[in-house]
Formats: sequence, C-alpha cells, structure tokens
Amino acid sequence: DRPGRLIVVSNRIPKGDVPAGGLVFAIHEALSGAGGLWIGAADPTPRADDGLTRIGSGTYDRATFALSEKEHHGYYLGYANSVLWPLFHHRPDLLQIEEGDFESYAVVNRRVARAIGKVAGPDDLIWIQDYHFLMVAQELRAQGLTNRIGLFLHIPFPNPTDVMALPQVAALPAWLAAHDVVGLQTMRDVTSANEILRHDRQSQMLNDGYWTRAGRVFSILSFPIGIDARGFAETAARAPRVELQLAPDAPLLLGVDRLDYSKGLVHRFEAFDEYLGTRRPGDPRPTFLQIAPVSREDVTAYQDIREDLERAAGSINGAHADLDWTPLRYVRRHIDRDVIAGLYRRADVALVTPLADGMNLVAKEFVAAQDDNNPGVLILSHFAGAAEQMKAAVLVNPFDTHSFAQALDRAIRMPLEERRQRHDELRKLVFEKDIDWWTQTFLRRLSRTERSLLRRR
Ligand code: G6P
Repeated sequence: DRPGRLIVVSNRIPKGDVPAGGLVFAIHEALSGAGGLWIGAADPTPRADDGLTRIGSGTYDRATFALSEKEHHGYYLGYANSVLWPLFHHRPDLLQIEEGDFESYAVVNRRVARAIGKVAGPDDLIWIQDYHFLMVAQELRAQGLTNRIGLFLHIPFPNPTDVMALPQVAALPAWLAAHDVVGLQTMRDVTSANEILRHDRQSQMLNDGYWTRAGRVFSILSFPIGIDARGFAETAARAPRVELQLAPDAPLLLGVDRLDYSKGLVHRFEAFDEYLGTRRPGDPRPTFLQIAPVSREDVTAYQDIREDLERAAGSINGAHADLDWTPLRYVRRHIDRDVIAGLYRRADVALVTPLADGMNLVAKEFVAAQDDNNPGVLILSHFAGAAEQMKAAVLVNPFDTHSFAQALDRAIRMPLEERRQRHDELRKLVFEKDIDWWTQTFLRRLSRTERSLLRRR
C-alpha cells in the first residue's frame, strides 16, 4: 500500500550472497518483502567518484557508493569506529579524535546524499541504517528533498554527559531533526536522546515521542530489532553435529561475539575463572566455548582487546586445566552460521554479557535455536538492549564478578522445570517480535504523515 519505493542505506552491504544474520540480513528481509534499492559502501579504492555502481538486482536492487582508501580511514576506521562507536557504547575513554576524520565522514555522508538525491522519486521512503550516516538526512533536506526519511540506530544512544565528548555535539540535534522518524533500540536509548534534546534550545518536545525543531516535526521512538525466528529455528534443528570431544556429561557454555571491547569478554572470562575456583570435588567439569571472530583490526582498541583476551584465556586454562580437561576454548576463526546454530541448540548455557550493546541478536538466536522440551539457559547482561524485552533470562551485572560467577553455577544446575518456564516466555517474545514485526512497525510509522501536527500549532 506504499506508493513509492523503499531506499535503504547501510555501510555494510553483501557483495554476493546475503549472510543469514545481523543487520545485513534484517535489511535483506525488509527489502525482499517490499522491493526497492539497497545502497552500501564499495570496497575502498585509490580514488572515489560520485554516483552508484549497481551490484545486483532481483526482488530488489543493490548498488554501492565509492570510498577512497583515505576516506575509508577517516570515515569508517576514524569517525565511525573510533569516535561514534566508543562514545555511543559509553566508552569516551577510548575516543580517538583525529583531525580530518570528521571531514571524511561529512564528505562520505554528502556523497551518499547526492547519490540518493539522484535516484529518489518523490514518494520513495528513505531508510538510513546506523551510526555511519548521521548527516545524510540533513544533506538531503539541504538539497530540498521532502521525502519521508527514517533513521534506525542499531547501537545504543550515548548518555547526555558522554555526548559532550563529541566535538560535533552542537550539530547533533539538527542531524536528528532532519529525519521524520529516529528509531532506537530501547526505551533507555529514547530517554537519553530526549534528555540530550532537552538541552538544545531550539528543540521542543510535543507529545507521544514527537519533537519539533526549526519548523520540522520528527519523532524519536524505540523499535527493538528482532530476528527471523522461524528460519533460524529450522537452521538449528537441521544443523550438522560437530564433534567437540567433551566428557559425556560435561555442561557446554557458549559465547558468540564479534571481538569487540563492548562485548565484555574479559569480564566474562573473569567470572568463569571465579566460578571454576569455587567448584567442589565431583562437580561437573564444564567447557566454555567462546567464539569471537576478529573485527575492525586496524583500530588500536581492537588490537588491545584481542591481546587482553588471549592473556586472560591463557591464564584461566593455566590455573584450571587438567590432563583431560580444557575448561576454556577460545576460537577466533570464522565459524559458519549453520554450525553456530547447531552449537546454540546443543549448549546448556549461553553467555550474552556485553558492557553495552544496542540489542544483541545472539540472545534471540540462542532462544530460537533451543529444543523446547529441553532448553538451555540464557545468561544476559542488563546492559544488552535485549534485557529490556528478555526479562525471563538470568540477568547479570557483568562488572560484579562474584554474582556473575554465582549466576553461572545457578544456570548450570537449573532444573528442567525452571528452564522450560523461562524459555517459554522468551520464545514467545522472540517469535512474536521478529524481524517482520520490526520492519513493518518501523515502516508503518515512517510512512504516516504528521503534517497535520505542525499545522495545528
Ligand atoms: C554492528 C553495527 C553494524 C555493523 C556490524 C559489524 O552490528 O551496528 O552497523 O555492520 O556491527 O561491524 P563492521 O564494522 O564489520 O561492519
């Protein structure tokens, strides 16, 4: 029932087959239903031109914008991943503010806006994804575009104090106000955004999530992202069984994360260490399998976390391993998604314990992958966006090593009855608020016209 096309922009775009998970898969699902155009970054080249390069078409089209190596450095490694990412994940101490990085970010955002401006029809819906493109909407408005423009931020929103560390903090309200709908993951994020806008003298709160600024009306709302629960459950049930060489009754604990300081991996290892220290003779000998493929390796903070983690893993096994038992297994290699789905199903406990996380889809995938008759236990950090919805998980504070270790013990011993009760509740949520629900809810909100609100004032 939408007159125009859907145009989606995200930094990552699959150049070949779409991997079945995460942000990229969510967009693929959205476009498969609606049709439209997906724009993302090309691999960096020595020089970058304007315009789009078509890389595929089917139920929807895919195209890339160009990026020079210098821009990749300033825009992606620099401003996006060394300024916005740490700041939005509440780590202003990790900020690397380099001269020229913001300029690259602005240049790339302008290039993307020009490309969209050329292809967008008057009724097209424009849906911008994530922190790489906070300025695109403002650029589009400057070109005179009146289309409906939505932003969905997949990561947390910074709190009002941290945000002061952003050199461009004064420009942030205008960036946000250029959209019609700013979608955030959680209510907590909406509260932070509202608080920041309250400090902006030109922004004024209306009602029901609506704001007005410089003659425009826009809204800030939460749309917790979901997964393709049905599809993932099938993948998990069909998954190939891998030989892990565990003792017959050894509980399997599992963590799956991109290797990122926001994921709380060192804290998780420390809690496991403490748990191992409190085991009594005759207690089960669990294996904790942590899969953490490297990510953004050219950013110093990522090299540091990798070293910290390797050191922690070595010392835990040094302290607790036996001739026939390696308590911690740390796998940095990429593992195929169907294998991971099978591991989720087989695991007794999943550890999803970030220090900050927009949503965390691993938590939802783990739930979807379970055998409903004998489900595993989800240990979830209060600091994952998912905790706002997944209250039936075993919620932990990853900074409190002692109670985290106790939660591990409790999860490993949890009786079937309690596991089932918790799982039923989680499962309902994951299957109801799935990826289709998320897409439909956001797009319905985006296509609604709010002009009447402005006229009434
Ligand atoms: C997070 C972000 C995404 C990003 C993904 C992988 O989920 O929200 O925008 O694509 O991490 O990070 P990368 O830098 O490898 O694209």
